[in-house]
Amino acid sequence: MVKHFGIVGAGTMGSGIAQAAALSGVDVLLYDVNDTILRQALERIKYDFRKGVNRGKLTQEQMTEAFGRIHPRTKLHDLKQCEFIVEAVIEDLTVKKDLFRHLEADTKPTTILATNTSSLSVTAMASVLRVPERAVGLHFFNPAHIMKLVEVVRGERTSQETVDHTIELAKQIDKTPVVAKDTPGFIVNRVARPFYGEALRLLGENVATVEQIDRIVKEGGGFAMGPFELMDLIGIDINFAVTQSMYEQYFGEPRYRPHLIQKRMVDAGHIGRKSGQGFYKYEDKK
Ligand SMILES: NC(=O)c1ccc[n+]([C@@H]2O[C@H](COP(=O)([O-])OP(=O)(O)OC[C@H]3O[C@@H](n4cnc5c(N)ncnc54)[C@H](O)[C@@H]3O)[C@@H](O)[C@H]2O)c1
Repeated sequence: MVKHFGIVGAGTMGSGIAQAAALSGVDVLLYDVNDTILRQALERIKYDFRKGVNRGKLTQEQMTEAFGRIHPRTKLHDLKQCEFIVEAVIEDLTVKKDLFRHLEADTKPTTILATNTSSLSVTAMASVLRVPERAVGLHFFNPAHIMKLVEVVRGERTSQETVDHTIELAKQIDKTPVVAKDTPGFIVNRVARPFYGEALRLLGENVATVEQIDRIVKEGGGFAMGPFELMDLIGIDINFAVTQSMYEQYFGEPRYRPHLIQKRMVDAGHIGRKSGQGFYKYEDKK
């Protein structure tokens, strides 16, 4: 059983993963580069917990206890006591490799180093480690405190022991793990790319509006959210980075080609809910 769970990156995903773990009774050490980001993350977490209390999903006591289990940290070194660490920083292979290198130098040899990457190669990330067998993918879905599914990604050199411990950790924090091979986009993002891509093409060709496409997909297809609502939730910057990365990794496969609309929105800073403006406008940035 994991007692101390380290999370690097307190953005959309890091905050959600922290909530899920804390609610399951695990102590979380949540790292990010500065206090301001961590303060915003804690506010976001409290806001979500309160929503849970208001909806009768958890009690005030559970909320207070879980919140008390999340410890913000600005020194990576402070995560050295963790048995399991997952990184949820930006989708950039160079940044993630650098982080893995630092984490290996600063942790016990038995600590598992996981990545929440949506599309990048776990094998490539692990290649910078002296012991690549300890690296694994643990891919959560957004919102991470609600979505049960996680993909456990076995890199080329990930040991069976690491995969087994990761499955145990996923179950400990009340998730449903599915083991996937290390391939760009794994299972879910591979299926999801054409979902966003085709919606963006429809919009780009003026076939229908954002609202119409979202409504049709929900009413006609039975989806819980439309593609534009989902891109706003994920973050258009992150979604664009994932699409670009998959397009490149599949050697320019046309099915995964990013759309100019995504680039224009990222350039304008209209990156979805977290910025207050994406395909829709949001009063409440949380
Ligand atoms: N957003 C989603 O729906 C989603 C879903 C599944 C997986 N992911 C993956 O999770 C990861 C994070 O995505 P996100 O949406 O939470 O991003 P985000 O932009 O909301 O948060 C990223 C956080 O990482 C921090 N950060 C950046 N560089 C850092 C570094 N070197 N060290 C420590 N912290 C650093 C930033 O300060 C920021 O707080 C990405 O790899 C993404 O592909 C995202």
